[in-house]
Amino acid sequence: MSRIVIVSNRTPGKGPAAGGLAVALRKVLGEREGFWFGWSGKLAEAPPPEARIEHIDGLSIAQIDLTRDDHHAYYAGFSNSILWPSFHLRLDLATIEGHWYEGYRSVNRQFARSLLPLLRPDDIVWVHDYHLIPLAAELRHLGARNRIGFYLHIPFPTADALYAIPHHEELMRDLSRYDLIGMQAKRDVAAFTEFAEHQMPSTFGGHRSRIIDFSRTEVDAFPIGSDPDAFARLAVSPAGTKMINRMKRSLGDQRLILGVDRLDYSKGLPQRVEAYEKLLANNARLRRSVHLLQVAPPSRDGIKEYQETSDALDAICGRVMGHFAEPDWQPLTYVKRAYGQPSLAGLYRLARVGLVTPLRDGMNLVAHEYVGAQNPDDPGVLVLSRFAGAAEIFPEALLVNPFDTDETAEALRLALDMPLEERKQRWQALMQAARRHNVDDWAMGFLDRLAPGANARTSTTRDILYLASVA
Ligand code: F6P
Repeated sequence: MSRIVIVSNRTPGKGPAAGGLAVALRKVLGEREGFWFGWSGKLAEAPPPEARIEHIDGLSIAQIDLTRDDHHAYYAGFSNSILWPSFHLRLDLATIEGHWYEGYRSVNRQFARSLLPLLRPDDIVWVHDYHLIPLAAELRHLGARNRIGFYLHIPFPTADALYAIPHHEELMRDLSRYDLIGMQAKRDVAAFTEFAEHQMPSTFGGHRSRIIDFSRTEVDAFPIGSDPDAFARLAVSPAGTKMINRMKRSLGDQRLILGVDRLDYSKGLPQRVEAYEKLLANNARLRRSVHLLQVAPPSRDGIKEYQETSDALDAICGRVMGHFAEPDWQPLTYVKRAYGQPSLAGLYRLARVGLVTPLRDGMNLVAHEYVGAQNPDDPGVLVLSRFAGAAEIFPEALLVNPFDTDETAEALRLALDMPLEERKQRWQALMQAARRHNVDDWAMGFLDRLAPGANARTSTTRDILYLASVA
């Protein structure tokens, strides 16, 4: 059986894997021969000529160092100041410095050069996320003939947002060098197809045209999930129960509304707190009987837009405290720190409302984890952004437009007032969907489609020829 090679910017570290994705992919590598390849997390004077291979917790991990300049242009620059905001439709927060593309390309080339000598001809290579769009093209340029798949963990942008990205034609051409592209949601596949088709007429006029041929690339939605039953177990584990008891002591009779997100502008945190502010303003009876806990571990804090999001959140939390707090009651707690999965599972289980309202999100696994951790006899209510990929999986959540803080405030009220029977019915449907989309099946589903001979094309891109103008 072919080996599996997983490639991502970050590689798993020592100790228990933090996220569901890392757990699932570890499992794949536990069952199939193969290794993980990525950045070591270290900055060096010069990139090492070869990857270092380590064996960590039974996993083979090959890593390379990057120079400070390359890493800055590739990670903070092109990946997270251009691709991330554009793919999340926040062009207002993008910093378009085209020269970062050189560093982005150069790091992808270094990945390819260091990975190639480790590859066997029949290895299946699975590349993850927007940092590594050009990797297949770079590997193919060096002669790799392997089956190579790509999974995009974030949303695919609309055509207009894609046009704003420097070198977007090259990036699209890079995508055509993959055998299989996986997206989170049908919406993303539709955006990809729409872009590819939209290009054809508009790029003819007066320009020489070059064809990007997607006829060998299959594109489909593979919605990622979590392991909901593992979250159910974690929620009643000793560490989960400890967190529940700790919170119960401080909450007393108050019902908990919980948000858990990286501190990222795509997560809609200020809008969420504003919705909570409206809930308290419109429903005086709820004051003293509810509490919002927002867990928001800092992320990419070297980037100005992330610091500004953090400041905006500080400001609005302060405003709500100043307006509603009393000497013996605080309406909210805001924690800028990460917690382990067992503690989070305990918090999820205790929360009457899981408030998951990103402005745009690939999937959002917090929604899956919240569902998994509920008590079947007294489940909470998921209030979910219709702009998260998870909305396609969870129509039984209370779906909201996160930009409309009145609507989110009203959904919060409905969730808090929802009778037990309705909560149970909704939760049972949500749990079924979470199980159907579990992360193990996601990984196996993608790899089965990527396996040699599995390219009976179903989908959208079979006949797409994307024409890019070349000046
Ligand atoms: O959602 C995309 C993603 O890259 C995840 O894969 C990752 O866990 C998260 O964003 C955090 O990203 P970073 O590696 O930049 O901290």
